[in-house]
Amino acid sequence: MEKIIIFDTTLRDGEQCPGASLNIKEKLEIAKQLAVLGVDIIEAGFPVSSPGDFEAVKTVAKNVKGPVICGLARSVEKDIDAAYDAVRFSNRPRIHVFLATSKIHMKYKLKKAEDEILKLAVAAVKYARAKCPDIEFSPEDASRTELSFLQRVVEAVIDAGAATVNIPDTVGYSTPFEFADIIGSLKYNVPNIQKCVISVHCHNDLGLGVANSLAAVLSGARQVECTINGLGERAGNASLEEIVMAIRTRNDIFKGLYTDINTKELYKTSRLVSKLTGMPVQPNKAIIGANAFAHESGIHQDGVLKERITYEIMRPEDVGFEESKIVLGKHSGRHAFDARLKSMGLDLNKADLDRAFERFKELADKKKEIFDEDLETIVDEEISKMPEKICLVHFHIASGDQVKPTATVTLKYNGKISEASSTGDGPVDACYKAIDKITALTGKLLDYKIRSVTGGKDALGEVTVKVESKGKIFSGRGASTDIIEASIKAYVNAMNKRALAEK
Ligand code: KIV
Ligand code: ZN
Repeated sequence: MEKIIIFDTTLRDGEQCPGASLNIKEKLEIAKQLAVLGVDIIEAGFPVSSPGDFEAVKTVAKNVKGPVICGLARSVEKDIDAAYDAVRFSNRPRIHVFLATSKIHMKYKLKKAEDEILKLAVAAVKYARAKCPDIEFSPEDASRTELSFLQRVVEAVIDAGAATVNIPDTVGYSTPFEFADIIGSLKYNVPNIQKCVISVHCHNDLGLGVANSLAAVLSGARQVECTINGLGERAGNASLEEIVMAIRTRNDIFKGLYTDINTKELYKTSRLVSKLTGMPVQPNKAIIGANAFAHESGIHQDGVLKERITYEIMRPEDVGFEESKIVLGKHSGRHAFDARLKSMGLDLNKADLDRAFERFKELADKKKEIFDEDLETIVDEEISKMPEKICLVHFHIASGDQVKPTATVTLKYNGKISEASSTGDGPVDACYKAIDKITALTGKLLDYKIRSVTGGKDALGEVTVKVESKGKIFSGRGASTDIIEASIKAYVNAMNKRALAEK
């Protein structure tokens, strides 16, 4: 078995993501969680870039045990000094030195020729190596570097003392076969390559960061640089959770390869990074997105309920989710609906189930997701239903701050359709008065409560009322995504009890 070294750069490249900056305390909290997750190396920052970053790297180096703690440096002495002064507090320090090698960067950014770049790279690695035993070198923009020059640079920095040579696809330009070829060519053409670990660092500008990293692994790379949630400069870096789970799940492809990541900590780590950076995770994000193990379609739900592996290639608990989620919505089928009711202890007979399912489908057309509380309300209303003398047919209201609230309500009362209109203090009061006009069962509203049964803008509202009529108190309940409708249903429910008490 051969280990793939996981080099996490969430606190360095990840923090370069616009708007994701972290303070020292937050960096330390994430670094501690990365250690629990089991990453091999934490790139904690770029110490020369700011006093705050220097302090953050130093704090992580002092307080986080287990992983190697790494600081980034350009190929200049003051950067290397700052990086070493920050990481030296770790018992496993590393300095990561970089210098661009592509024609584009050498010409426009550095304004230097190949030989000069080669000399600077070697000098920087030697300078760093004299301070610190563990040196990594990155030829920045390697994927756009002329291959023969890249090979020369790699050979020279290994001779100068670099134990890891990292090949960055800095601008996310490469494609998997091409990137695998670059790694293969270094492996077979650089004479001293066996003396170093080949690392890769892929950006995601074309959405290929993970694919390129994995292609490189198949070609001989043994360290992958990545970030939690794929955070990073521009479109981000290869996502750690995707790399790790791909190697683990497709062990038939990544034969004999493993990582030391405790995958059960992935979800928790992702949540923490998202919370502290303020960067939300898209629901459909692979591995740790809220929908990664959620099934909505009736066909999929039926399959998963029969046998999980029909539609799941990983177990949710392996990445730290509690369980797969069967999301009840308009695409759900009877099997999932019944299974959810049973899991809530509601075992309905066929006729009741049919009625409840019909109500569920009506609600699912109005609401994106149906929660357990919605189901309780449906079952309560449908199954514990009493005979109805009064039944709402439809209603219309006109209301606003410049108009007198007016309601027109149509009821089926004692088998006859009747309509009445009324004004009121508000739309609910107007509706209640219109109902009283039809039934002539005047009730005095003693109590009115409304609450949201479920979360979100499309939540189901539940209204409960207490109505006094003929010296007795009748309670009523109604639920709907429309609060006026819920209010009418609650009142009608109470007045039905009143009407039945009449007999
Ligand atoms: O993307 C890149 O090239 C980098 C280097 C500093 C490794 O982040
Ligand atoms: Zn980068």
